[in-house]
Amino acid sequence: MIGFSRDNGELTCDGVPLSAIARKVGTPAYVYSAALIEESFRRFDAAFAPVAHLVCYAAKANSNGTLLAKLAGLGAGADVVSGGELRASLESGFSSDRIVFSGVGKTVAEIRSAVESGLLAINAESEREIEKIEAEAARQGKTARVALRVNPDIDARSHPYISTGRKHNKFGVAIDLAPAIFRKARGFPHVRMTGIQAHIGSQILDPQPLADAARDLARLARDLAAEGHELSTLDVGGGIGLAGPGEKPLTPETYAAAVLPHVAGLPMTVLVEPGRAIVGPAGALVTEVLDVKKSSGKLFVVTDAGMNDLLRPALYGAIHSIESVTENRMPVERVMADVVGPICESSDFFLRDSSIDRPLEGDLMAIRDVGAYGFSMSSNYNFRGRPPEVWVEKGSFRVIRRREHFDDLVRAERE
Ligand code: LLP
Repeated sequence: MIGFSRDNGELTCDGVPLSAIARKVGTPAYVYSAALIEESFRRFDAAFAPVAHLVCYAAKANSNGTLLAKLAGLGAGADVVSGGELRASLESGFSSDRIVFSGVGKTVAEIRSAVESGLLAINAESEREIEKIEAEAARQGKTARVALRVNPDIDARSHPYISTGRKHNKFGVAIDLAPAIFRKARGFPHVRMTGIQAHIGSQILDPQPLADAARDLARLARDLAAEGHELSTLDVGGGIGLAGPGEKPLTPETYAAAVLPHVAGLPMTVLVEPGRAIVGPAGALVTEVLDVKKSSGKLFVVTDAGMNDLLRPALYGAIHSIESVTENRMPVERVMADVVGPICESSDFFLRDSSIDRPLEGDLMAIRDVGAYGFSMSSNYNFRGRPPEVWVEKGSFRVIRRREHFDDLVRAERE
Protein backbone atom coordinates (compact mmCIF):
# COMPACT_ATOMS: atom_id res chain seq x y z
CA MET A 1 0.00 0.00 0.00
CA ILE A 2 1.58 3.30 -1.03
CA GLY A 3 0.70 6.70 0.38
CA PHE A 4 -1.26 7.05 3.61
CA SER A 5 -3.17 4.07 4.91
CA ARG A 6 -4.02 2.34 8.17
CA ASP A 7 -2.25 -0.65 9.55
CA ASN A 8 -3.72 -2.00 12.80
CA GLY A 9 -5.31 1.36 13.54
CA GLU A 10 -2.02 3.23 12.93
CA LEU A 11 -1.84 5.76 10.13
CA THR A 12 1.21 4.94 8.04
CA CYS A 13 3.05 6.53 5.12
CA ASP A 14 4.32 3.91 2.68
CA GLY A 15 4.06 1.46 5.57
CA VAL A 16 5.99 3.61 8.10
CA PRO A 17 3.89 4.59 11.16
CA LEU A 18 3.52 8.37 11.43
CA SER A 19 3.83 8.03 15.21
CA ALA A 20 7.36 6.63 14.80
CA ILE A 21 8.28 9.59 12.59
CA ALA A 22 6.80 12.08 15.08
CA ARG A 23 8.70 10.44 17.96
CA LYS A 24 11.96 10.94 16.06
CA VAL A 25 11.52 14.41 14.53
CA GLY A 26 8.89 16.01 16.78
CA THR A 27 5.80 17.91 15.67
CA PRO A 28 4.56 19.64 13.64
CA ALA A 29 6.23 17.85 10.72
CA TYR A 30 5.49 17.43 7.02
CA VAL A 31 5.74 13.84 5.83
CA TYR A 32 5.90 12.89 2.13
CA SER A 33 5.43 9.59 0.32
CA ALA A 34 8.03 9.22 -2.43
CA ALA A 35 6.11 6.29 -3.93
CA LEU A 36 2.90 8.28 -4.28
CA ILE A 37 4.69 11.20 -5.93
CA GLU A 38 6.24 8.78 -8.38
CA GLU A 39 2.91 7.12 -9.11
CA SER A 40 1.14 10.45 -9.72
CA PHE A 41 3.86 11.62 -12.08
CA ARG A 42 3.82 8.35 -13.99
CA ARG A 43 0.06 8.49 -14.35
CA PHE A 44 0.26 11.97 -15.92
CA ASP A 45 3.07 10.91 -18.17
CA ALA A 46 1.18 7.80 -19.32
CA ALA A 47 -2.09 9.71 -19.79
CA PHE A 48 -0.38 12.07 -22.26
CA ALA A 49 1.55 9.30 -24.02
CA PRO A 50 -0.65 9.48 -27.17
CA VAL A 51 1.01 12.83 -28.05
CA ALA A 52 4.55 14.21 -27.88
CA HIS A 53 4.54 15.79 -24.43
CA LEU A 54 6.48 16.89 -21.38
CA VAL A 55 5.01 17.00 -17.87
CA CYS A 56 6.57 20.14 -16.34
CA TYR A 57 6.04 19.88 -12.59
CA ALA A 58 5.01 23.28 -11.13
CA ALA A 59 7.77 23.75 -8.57
CA LYS A 60 5.80 26.33 -6.60
CA ALA A 61 3.65 23.53 -5.17
CA ASN A 62 6.64 22.16 -3.29
CA SER A 63 10.23 23.09 -4.06
CA ASN A 64 12.11 20.88 -1.64
CA GLY A 65 15.34 19.80 -3.37
CA THR A 66 14.88 16.09 -2.67
CA LEU A 67 11.39 16.15 -4.15
CA LEU A 68 12.58 18.13 -7.18
CA ALA A 69 15.46 15.70 -7.70
CA LYS A 70 13.06 12.76 -7.51
CA LEU A 71 10.86 14.23 -10.25
CA ALA A 72 13.85 15.24 -12.38
CA GLY A 73 15.07 11.64 -12.12
CA LEU A 74 11.71 10.36 -13.31
CA GLY A 75 12.02 12.48 -16.46
CA ALA A 76 9.78 15.40 -15.51
CA GLY A 77 10.31 18.93 -16.71
CA ALA A 78 9.83 21.89 -14.40
CA ASP A 79 7.65 24.99 -14.46
CA VAL A 80 9.31 27.73 -12.40
CA VAL A 81 8.14 31.21 -11.46
CA SER A 82 11.13 32.86 -9.85
CA GLY A 83 14.92 33.02 -10.02
CA GLY A 84 14.95 30.95 -6.82
CA GLU A 85 12.83 28.16 -8.28
CA LEU A 86 14.92 28.23 -11.45
CA ARG A 87 18.14 27.78 -9.51
CA ALA A 88 16.64 25.12 -7.24
CA SER A 89 15.40 23.19 -10.28
CA LEU A 90 18.73 23.38 -12.10
CA GLU A 91 20.59 22.32 -8.95
CA SER A 92 18.16 19.42 -8.49
CA GLY A 93 18.98 18.01 -11.90
CA PHE A 94 16.37 19.38 -14.32
CA SER A 95 18.14 20.16 -17.57
CA SER A 96 17.50 23.66 -18.84
CA ASP A 97 15.80 22.43 -22.00
CA ARG A 98 13.10 20.86 -19.81
CA ILE A 99 12.36 24.03 -17.83
CA VAL A 100 9.74 26.70 -18.58
CA PHE A 101 9.74 30.01 -16.73
CA SER A 102 6.32 31.50 -16.00
CA GLY A 103 5.64 34.47 -13.74
CA VAL A 104 3.62 37.60 -14.16
CA GLY A 105 6.45 40.02 -13.33
CA LYS A 106 10.00 38.96 -14.02
CA THR A 107 12.90 41.07 -12.80
CA VAL A 108 15.82 41.96 -15.04
CA ALA A 109 17.96 39.57 -12.99
CA GLU A 110 15.45 36.75 -13.52
CA ILE A 111 15.29 37.40 -17.26
CA ARG A 112 19.09 37.42 -17.31
CA SER A 113 19.39 33.99 -15.69
CA ALA A 114 16.53 32.57 -17.77
CA VAL A 115 18.29 33.67 -20.98
CA GLU A 116 21.69 32.49 -19.72
CA SER A 117 20.29 29.06 -18.92
CA GLY A 118 18.78 28.60 -22.39
CA LEU A 119 15.39 27.40 -21.15
CA LEU A 120 12.84 25.44 -23.15
CA ALA A 121 10.60 28.50 -22.94
CA ILE A 122 10.34 31.79 -21.14
CA ASN A 123 6.60 32.31 -20.87
CA ALA A 124 6.19 36.01 -21.64
CA GLU A 125 3.29 37.73 -19.93
CA SER A 126 3.19 40.86 -22.11
CA GLU A 127 4.51 42.45 -25.26
CA ARG A 128 6.80 44.61 -23.15
CA GLU A 129 8.29 41.54 -21.52
CA ILE A 130 9.25 40.17 -24.94
CA GLU A 131 11.11 43.43 -25.58
CA LYS A 132 12.96 43.02 -22.30
CA ILE A 133 13.90 39.43 -23.20
CA GLU A 134 15.08 40.63 -26.62
CA ALA A 135 17.28 43.30 -25.01
CA GLU A 136 18.83 40.84 -22.56
CA ALA A 137 19.36 38.14 -25.19
CA ALA A 138 21.01 40.71 -27.47
CA ARG A 139 23.33 41.72 -24.63
CA GLN A 140 24.31 38.07 -24.13
CA GLY A 141 24.56 37.40 -27.86
CA LYS A 142 21.98 34.61 -27.56
CA THR A 143 18.59 33.70 -28.95
CA ALA A 144 15.90 33.04 -26.35
CA ARG A 145 12.96 30.70 -26.86
CA VAL A 146 9.81 32.51 -25.84
CA ALA A 147 6.22 31.36 -25.43
CA LEU A 148 3.38 33.83 -25.12
CA ARG A 149 1.01 33.40 -22.22
CA VAL A 150 -2.49 34.07 -23.42
CA ASN A 151 -5.60 34.64 -21.40
CA PRO A 152 -8.52 32.78 -22.96
CA ASP A 153 -11.17 34.42 -20.72
CA ILE A 154 -12.44 31.13 -19.33
CA ASP A 155 -13.98 30.76 -15.91
CA ALA A 156 -12.23 27.92 -14.07
CA ARG A 157 -14.97 28.04 -11.40
CA SER A 158 -12.38 27.75 -8.65
CA HIS A 159 -11.69 30.01 -5.65
CA PRO A 160 -11.36 33.61 -6.92
CA TYR A 161 -7.82 33.90 -5.53
CA ILE A 162 -6.63 31.01 -7.68
CA SER A 163 -8.65 31.60 -10.85
CA THR A 164 -6.39 33.17 -13.43
CA GLY A 165 -7.99 32.79 -16.83
CA ARG A 166 -10.68 35.49 -16.86
CA LYS A 167 -10.09 38.66 -18.79
CA HIS A 168 -10.08 40.76 -15.61
CA ASN A 169 -7.18 38.72 -14.20
CA LYS A 170 -3.61 40.03 -14.38
CA PHE A 171 -2.21 37.04 -16.27
CA GLY A 172 -1.01 36.95 -19.87
CA VAL A 173 -2.46 38.86 -22.82
CA ALA A 174 -5.95 38.57 -24.26
CA ILE A 175 -5.86 35.65 -26.67
CA ASP A 176 -7.01 37.73 -29.67
CA LEU A 177 -3.96 39.99 -29.33
CA ALA A 178 -1.58 37.06 -29.81
CA PRO A 179 -1.31 37.12 -33.65
CA ALA A 180 -0.30 40.79 -33.67
CA ILE A 181 2.27 40.23 -30.93
CA PHE A 182 3.74 37.25 -32.82
CA ARG A 183 3.95 39.35 -35.99
CA LYS A 184 5.77 42.11 -34.18
CA ALA A 185 8.16 39.71 -32.44
CA ARG A 186 9.31 38.50 -35.88
CA GLY A 187 11.36 41.66 -35.99
CA PHE A 188 13.29 40.71 -32.87
CA PRO A 189 16.53 38.98 -33.87
CA HIS A 190 17.28 37.48 -30.45
CA VAL A 191 13.87 36.07 -29.67
CA ARG A 192 12.30 33.00 -31.24
CA MET A 193 8.58 32.75 -30.57
CA THR A 194 8.35 29.01 -30.10
CA GLY A 195 5.17 28.48 -28.13
CA ILE A 196 1.92 29.52 -26.57
CA GLN A 197 0.72 28.88 -23.04
CA ALA A 198 -2.37 29.33 -20.89
CA HIS A 199 -3.09 28.52 -17.26
CA ILE A 200 -6.64 29.30 -16.20
CA GLY A 201 -6.46 28.54 -12.49
CA SER A 202 -5.82 26.00 -9.80
CA GLN A 203 -7.82 23.42 -7.83
CA ILE A 204 -10.12 22.82 -10.83
CA LEU A 205 -12.30 19.71 -10.68
CA ASP A 206 -14.48 20.26 -13.75
CA PRO A 207 -12.60 19.14 -16.90
CA GLN A 208 -14.75 21.33 -19.16
CA PRO A 209 -13.00 24.70 -18.66
CA LEU A 210 -9.62 22.97 -19.01
CA ALA A 211 -10.79 21.36 -22.26
CA ASP A 212 -12.10 24.73 -23.48
CA ALA A 213 -8.73 26.36 -22.82
CA ALA A 214 -6.96 23.58 -24.76
CA ARG A 215 -9.43 24.04 -27.64
CA ASP A 216 -8.72 27.80 -27.77
CA LEU A 217 -4.97 27.26 -27.61
CA ALA A 218 -5.14 24.71 -30.42
CA ARG A 219 -7.16 27.12 -32.55
CA LEU A 220 -4.59 29.84 -31.95
CA ALA A 221 -1.76 27.44 -32.78
CA ARG A 222 -3.40 26.67 -36.14
CA ASP A 223 -3.94 30.37 -36.89
CA LEU A 224 -0.32 31.15 -36.06
CA ALA A 225 0.92 28.24 -38.18
CA ALA A 226 -1.15 29.58 -41.08
CA GLU A 227 0.78 32.84 -40.76
CA GLY A 228 4.05 30.92 -40.97
CA HIS A 229 5.03 30.87 -37.29
CA GLU A 230 6.81 27.67 -36.36
CA LEU A 231 5.66 26.69 -32.92
CA SER A 232 7.31 23.84 -31.08
CA THR A 233 5.36 23.87 -27.79
CA LEU A 234 1.73 24.21 -26.76
CA ASP A 235 1.46 24.55 -22.98
CA VAL A 236 -1.91 23.87 -21.40
CA GLY A 237 -0.81 24.91 -17.88
CA GLY A 238 -1.74 23.15 -14.66
CA GLY A 239 -4.72 23.42 -12.37
CA ILE A 240 -5.94 19.87 -11.80
CA GLY A 241 -7.60 19.84 -8.39
CA LEU A 242 -7.93 17.37 -5.54
CA ALA A 243 -11.36 16.17 -4.54
CA GLY A 244 -12.57 17.11 -1.08
CA PRO A 245 -15.27 15.26 0.83
CA GLY A 246 -18.19 14.46 -1.50
CA GLU A 247 -16.43 15.82 -4.62
CA LYS A 248 -15.73 13.90 -7.80
CA PRO A 249 -11.97 13.56 -8.40
CA LEU A 250 -10.41 14.78 -11.64
CA THR A 251 -7.92 12.01 -12.43
CA PRO A 252 -4.96 12.50 -14.78
CA GLU A 253 -6.71 10.09 -17.16
CA THR A 254 -10.00 12.06 -17.22
CA TYR A 255 -8.07 15.30 -17.58
CA ALA A 256 -6.02 13.97 -20.50
CA ALA A 257 -9.15 12.58 -22.14
CA ALA A 258 -10.68 16.08 -22.03
CA VAL A 259 -7.62 17.88 -23.39
CA LEU A 260 -6.10 15.45 -25.89
CA PRO A 261 -8.82 15.52 -28.57
CA HIS A 262 -8.14 19.25 -29.03
CA VAL A 263 -4.36 19.06 -29.30
CA ALA A 264 -3.83 15.67 -30.97
CA GLY A 265 -2.45 15.97 -34.48
CA LEU A 266 -0.75 19.32 -33.93
CA PRO A 267 2.94 19.22 -34.85
CA MET A 268 4.19 20.42 -31.47
CA THR A 269 5.08 19.11 -28.03
CA VAL A 270 2.27 19.45 -25.52
CA LEU A 271 3.46 20.79 -22.17
CA VAL A 272 1.38 20.32 -19.05
CA GLU A 273 2.23 21.98 -15.72
CA PRO A 274 0.58 20.13 -12.84
CA GLY A 275 1.71 20.91 -9.31
CA ARG A 276 -0.96 20.01 -6.77
CA ALA A 277 -2.10 16.82 -8.48
CA ILE A 278 1.42 15.39 -8.36
CA VAL A 279 2.47 16.21 -4.80
CA GLY A 280 -0.70 17.21 -2.88
CA PRO A 281 -1.97 13.76 -1.82
CA ALA A 282 1.58 12.64 -1.07
CA GLY A 283 1.98 14.94 1.95
CA ALA A 284 0.53 15.08 5.46
CA LEU A 285 1.18 17.48 8.32
CA VAL A 286 1.54 15.63 11.60
CA THR A 287 0.64 17.69 14.63
CA GLU A 288 0.18 17.16 18.36
CA VAL A 289 -2.88 18.20 20.33
CA LEU A 290 -1.81 20.80 22.88
CA ASP A 291 -5.18 21.38 24.49
CA VAL A 292 -8.83 20.34 24.24
CA LYS A 293 -11.08 22.96 25.74
CA LYS A 294 -14.74 23.87 25.93
CA SER A 295 -15.67 27.51 25.70
CA SER A 296 -19.16 28.98 25.26
CA GLY A 297 -20.52 25.59 24.30
CA LYS A 298 -17.87 24.99 21.63
CA LEU A 299 -15.12 22.44 21.67
CA PHE A 300 -11.69 23.64 20.55
CA VAL A 301 -8.87 21.28 19.72
CA VAL A 302 -5.63 23.29 19.80
CA THR A 303 -2.76 21.85 17.77
CA ASP A 304 0.93 22.69 17.70
CA ALA A 305 0.67 23.36 13.94
CA GLY A 306 -0.54 26.82 13.02
CA MET A 307 -1.45 28.92 10.00
CA ASN A 308 2.23 29.74 9.59
CA ASP A 309 2.81 26.04 8.85
CA LEU A 310 -0.28 25.56 6.67
CA LEU A 311 -1.98 28.66 5.33
CA ARG A 312 -4.56 27.18 2.96
CA PRO A 313 -7.55 26.99 5.34
CA ALA A 314 -7.00 30.58 6.51
CA LEU A 315 -6.39 32.02 3.05
CA TYR A 316 -8.82 30.09 0.86
CA GLY A 317 -11.14 28.42 3.35
CA ALA A 318 -9.67 25.16 2.09
CA ILE A 319 -10.88 22.01 3.81
CA HIS A 320 -8.27 19.38 4.58
CA SER A 321 -9.43 16.28 6.38
CA ILE A 322 -7.85 15.59 9.75
CA GLU A 323 -7.43 12.11 11.17
CA SER A 324 -6.06 10.73 14.37
CA VAL A 325 -2.70 9.10 13.80
CA THR A 326 -3.34 6.28 16.26
CA GLU A 327 -6.77 4.86 16.92
CA ASN A 328 -5.87 3.44 20.29
CA ARG A 329 -8.89 4.36 22.38
CA MET A 330 -11.85 2.35 21.12
CA PRO A 331 -14.69 3.02 20.81
CA VAL A 332 -13.84 6.47 19.45
CA GLU A 333 -16.34 9.19 20.24
CA ARG A 334 -17.28 11.58 17.42
CA VAL A 335 -17.58 15.21 18.45
CA MET A 336 -18.21 18.55 16.76
CA ALA A 337 -15.14 20.72 17.17
CA ASP A 338 -12.98 23.48 15.77
CA VAL A 339 -9.40 22.40 15.15
CA VAL A 340 -7.25 25.48 15.60
CA GLY A 341 -3.60 26.46 15.81
CA PRO A 342 -1.75 28.40 18.47
CA ILE A 343 -1.33 31.62 16.47
CA CYS A 344 -2.75 34.84 17.84
CA GLU A 345 -5.52 35.44 15.33
CA SER A 346 -8.89 33.90 14.61
CA SER A 347 -8.02 33.01 11.01
CA ASP A 348 -5.72 30.38 12.49
CA PHE A 349 -8.01 27.38 12.06
CA PHE A 350 -7.85 24.07 10.20
CA LEU A 351 -11.45 22.87 10.58
CA ARG A 352 -14.54 24.62 11.92
CA ASP A 353 -17.67 22.99 13.33
CA SER A 354 -16.58 19.62 12.01
CA SER A 355 -17.17 16.11 13.18
CA ILE A 356 -13.91 14.52 14.33
CA ASP A 357 -12.76 11.72 16.63
CA ARG A 358 -12.49 13.31 20.07
CA PRO A 359 -8.75 13.63 20.68
CA LEU A 360 -6.99 13.81 24.01
CA GLU A 361 -4.20 16.16 24.90
CA GLY A 362 -0.94 14.72 23.56
CA ASP A 363 -2.61 12.81 20.71
CA LEU A 364 -1.18 13.02 17.21
CA MET A 365 -3.31 14.07 14.26
CA ALA A 366 -2.56 14.17 10.54
CA ILE A 367 -3.79 16.94 8.25
CA ARG A 368 -4.12 15.33 4.85
CA ASP A 369 -3.39 16.31 1.23
CA VAL A 370 -0.95 19.08 2.09
CA GLY A 371 2.04 18.03 -0.03
CA ALA A 372 1.27 20.95 -2.36
CA TYR A 373 1.19 24.58 -1.19
CA GLY A 374 1.75 23.43 2.39
CA PHE A 375 5.40 23.90 3.24
CA SER A 376 5.94 26.14 0.21
CA MET A 377 3.52 28.74 1.62
CA SER A 378 4.70 28.44 5.23
CA SER A 379 6.19 31.39 7.07
CA ASN A 380 7.86 32.40 10.31
CA TYR A 381 4.82 34.33 11.54
CA ASN A 382 4.79 34.59 15.33
CA PHE A 383 8.54 33.97 15.16
CA ARG A 384 7.99 30.26 14.75
CA GLY A 385 10.55 28.08 13.03
CA ARG A 386 9.10 26.21 10.07
CA PRO A 387 8.54 22.47 10.50
CA PRO A 388 10.85 19.77 9.21
CA GLU A 389 10.09 17.86 6.02
CA VAL A 390 10.40 14.09 6.14
CA TRP A 391 10.82 11.84 3.13
CA VAL A 392 9.52 8.28 3.24
CA GLU A 393 10.95 5.98 0.63
CA LYS A 394 11.22 2.19 0.45
CA GLY A 395 10.13 1.58 4.03
CA SER A 396 12.39 4.09 5.77
CA PHE A 397 12.35 7.81 6.44
CA ARG A 398 14.80 10.68 6.58
CA VAL A 399 14.66 14.39 7.25
CA ILE A 400 15.07 16.28 3.99
CA ARG A 401 14.79 19.70 5.60
CA ARG A 402 15.36 20.09 9.32
CA ARG A 403 13.20 22.09 11.68
CA GLU A 404 14.13 25.77 11.82
CA HIS A 405 15.49 27.06 15.11
CA PHE A 406 15.62 30.50 16.67
CA ASP A 407 19.13 31.00 15.29
CA ASP A 408 17.87 30.43 11.74
CA LEU A 409 15.24 33.11 12.23
CA VAL A 410 17.64 35.76 13.52
CA ARG A 411 20.56 34.98 11.20
CA ALA A 412 19.55 37.47 8.53
CA GLU A 413 19.14 40.19 11.18
CA ARG A 414 22.51 39.60 12.71
CA GLU A 415 24.83 38.94 9.78
N1 LLP B 1 1.33 26.77 -14.08
C1 LLP B 1 1.17 28.05 -13.71
C2 LLP B 1 1.52 29.12 -14.64
C3 LLP B 1 0.66 28.36 -12.42
O1 LLP B 1 0.50 29.63 -12.07
C4 LLP B 1 0.33 27.30 -11.54
C5 LLP B 1 -0.21 27.58 -10.21
C6 LLP B 1 0.53 25.97 -11.97
C7 LLP B 1 1.02 25.74 -13.25
C8 LLP B 1 0.22 24.78 -11.11
O2 LLP B 1 -1.09 24.72 -10.74
P1 LLP B 1 -1.66 23.41 -10.02
O3 LLP B 1 -1.53 22.27 -10.98
O4 LLP B 1 -0.82 23.18 -8.79
O5 LLP B 1 -3.04 23.77 -9.69
N2 LLP B 1 -1.51 28.54 -3.43
C9 LLP B 1 -2.72 28.08 -4.06
C10 LLP B 1 -2.49 27.62 -5.47
C11 LLP B 1 -1.91 28.67 -6.35
C12 LLP B 1 -1.57 28.17 -7.73
C13 LLP B 1 -0.83 29.19 -8.50
N3 LLP B 1 -0.43 28.77 -9.81
C14 LLP B 1 -3.35 26.98 -3.22
O6 LLP B 1 -2.81 26.63 -2.18
O7 LLP B 1 -4.43 26.49 -3.58
